[in-house]
Amino acid sequence: MSNIEVYRVTGDSPRWQKIAYDYIRLDSFVVGQGIPVELEFGHDGPEDDIHAVILLKEHKPVSGCRIAYHGGPKNGYAKIERVATVREQQRTGIGARMIAEAEKWIKENGYHHVLITSQDRSVGFYNAIGYETRSDEVYAQYFPEEAAQKKERVVEIAKERAEGKAGPLSFTCVLVEKYL
Ligand SMILES: CC(C)(COP(=O)(O)OP(=O)(O)OC[C@H]1O[C@@H](n2cnc3c(N)ncnc32)[C@H](O)[C@@H]1OP(=O)(O)O)[C@@H](O)C(=O)NCCC(=O)NCCS
Repeated sequence: MSNIEVYRVTGDSPRWQKIAYDYIRLDSFVVGQGIPVELEFGHDGPEDDIHAVILLKEHKPVSGCRIAYHGGPKNGYAKIERVATVREQQRTGIGARMIAEAEKWIKENGYHHVLITSQDRSVGFYNAIGYETRSDEVYAQYFPEEAAQKKERVVEIAKERAEGKAGPLSFTCVLVEKYL
């Protein structure tokens, strides 16, 4: 894959790299999936704490994710979040390359256990790149609040679908896991 640049974005990275990641999220989630912009960005932590990976293709931002570390390297895990590829580059292999770059950075930080809470409609992507799908019981062990909310959402979404009212937020999350 030619003309690809990889950047590791942290608090003191140049502002354009943070804008590049926000652009990827805007294109993929907000415009592409119809996620309300205030929901997509409204829960972000302080910009100084960011650990994100972005890929540029011919100087244009195309794919990115961010990483949150929980616990220490030995017994903790890295959670990969907000994984996105811009619409015009989806299904070209760039997301797989981007996650491989995130995994490389995670390993350099001494972590070997990666968790991702995937949108149900994107699980196939993670399975294609070596992540195993875990049960809702395992999901609840790591993320009890989210798993409890999921139980309620499953019922609501079934109703939304039955009434023809399914919208951009009519999805649930599934835990996927990989040991590096
Ligand atoms: C999901 C997403 C990040 C994948 O990125 P991408 O750059 O399109 O993925 P790639 O082209 O690298 O795909 C790698 C593999 O996963 C498969 N794949 C990609 N998206 C898939 C999906 N939604 N369902 C099933 N398989 C998928 C590809 O076919 C490919 O497999 P192959 O190598 O056997 O052909 C991207 O489609 C996206 O941004 N979607 C909208 C936002 C989103 O859903 N983000 C994830 C939230 S958890």
